[in-house]
Amino acid sequence: MSYEVKINLRNDNYPIIIGSQNLKQAGKLIKNLLPDTVRTFVISDTNVFHIYGDRLINSLQESQLKPDYELLPAGEENKNLLNASKFYNNLLEHQMDRSSLLISLGGGVVGDLAGFVAATYMRGIKFVQIPTTLLAQVDSSVGGKVAVNHEAGKNLIGTFYHPEFVLTDVSTLKTLPKAEINSGMAEVIKHGMILDKDYYNYIENNLSMLSDLKPSNLIQLLKGSCILKGRVVKEDEKENGYRKILNFGHTIGHALEIITDYKEYKHGEAVAIGMVYNCKLAHKMGLLDYSIIDRLITLLSKVGLPTLIPKKIKADQVLKAIRKDKKSYQNKIPMILPKNIGEAIITNEWLDEDLKSVIQEN
Ligand SMILES: NC(=O)c1ccc[n+]([C@@H]2O[C@H](COP(=O)([O-])OP(=O)(O)OC[C@H]3O[C@@H](n4cnc5c(N)ncnc54)[C@H](O)[C@@H]3O)[C@@H](O)[C@H]2O)c1
Repeated sequence: MSYEVKINLRNDNYPIIIGSQNLKQAGKLIKNLLPDTVRTFVISDTNVFHIYGDRLINSLQESQLKPDYELLPAGEENKNLLNASKFYNNLLEHQMDRSSLLISLGGGVVGDLAGFVAATYMRGIKFVQIPTTLLAQVDSSVGGKVAVNHEAGKNLIGTFYHPEFVLTDVSTLKTLPKAEINSGMAEVIKHGMILDKDYYNYIENNLSMLSDLKPSNLIQLLKGSCILKGRVVKEDEKENGYRKILNFGHTIGHALEIITDYKEYKHGEAVAIGMVYNCKLAHKMGLLDYSIIDRLITLLSKVGLPTLIPKKIKADQVLKAIRKDKKSYQNKIPMILPKNIGEAIITNEWLDEDLKSVIQEN
């Protein structure tokens, strides 16, 4: 079973190919879809390459795609300009030129960094993403945002650069630690919560089935999320307006990550808490019925995600960290506030006092 989701852009489109055990088809797919490719360069991280590197490199060799590779130490702290610069050196040492294809094999960290390198090396070379975490398969590999972190904040240096295609092999999730699966589920739930009630109901009703990681179920889930995110990207590729809706849970989530120095929460865990407090704020403002918050908390808890800002984190700290968020423009911070499941608004019209009080009401 395999499925293809088309990501449609203003002047272009590309497929996300979702299947199981299809990593070993990578070489053949590149030969078919990008027949001019002569040389390939793989960027992966140490964990992922240890498990899946041979499979990918063998497949590229079998298709005479002359692969070279270099690895990033695993971890968010390595998604920075220094490592991007090391990869530029590697690409030059391996004499990669504008006809070479860069392939990322890994989670969102590798995808974001490799995509940024592909976008900037020799003014841009072709790029294929092979995401191996649930978060990367449902979210970070979809939509062309690539970036590295700066000491002043996450993803501050980046651009929009789309891959030629995305190759998703759901069987890679078998080796992903449970906490990382849960983290990815936060983004899946986010898609349902702000974009599609039926998708949200599907997740709620099939949670135990999804946790078995059966390929056919995973493919179904990924297809749903990629289609939904693809629709948003088509409407607003460069995040000038509507795409901001995907930041649901992220403004408060980022604040929690900043306050805890990125050490306490996985990205999805912080987003899960952020989604709950966005909903509480929406309720405070009279937009959302409290029963929806109960439903969301129940679903997130069943997945194993946190839903509360711990007492040791004070409301003032959260607000201060929010002000540091890069999405702040003339001090106006857009918040995504649900009105129902599958329906949300983007608004700057919210009050610090209201957010403070929902955090203090904990
Ligand atoms: N570009 C976007 O639109 C976008 C969207 C959301 C998040 N992001 C970015 O994504 C990053 C987070 O991505 P992530 O959650 O995938 O984290 P990650 O890339 O750090 O991966 C998490 C961990 O899992 C390991 N791993 C990956 N695949 C594995 C597998 N199949 N088996 C075993 N271990 C595996 C990695 O080595 C790492 O230790 C953040 O930097 C975030 O900013 C980007």
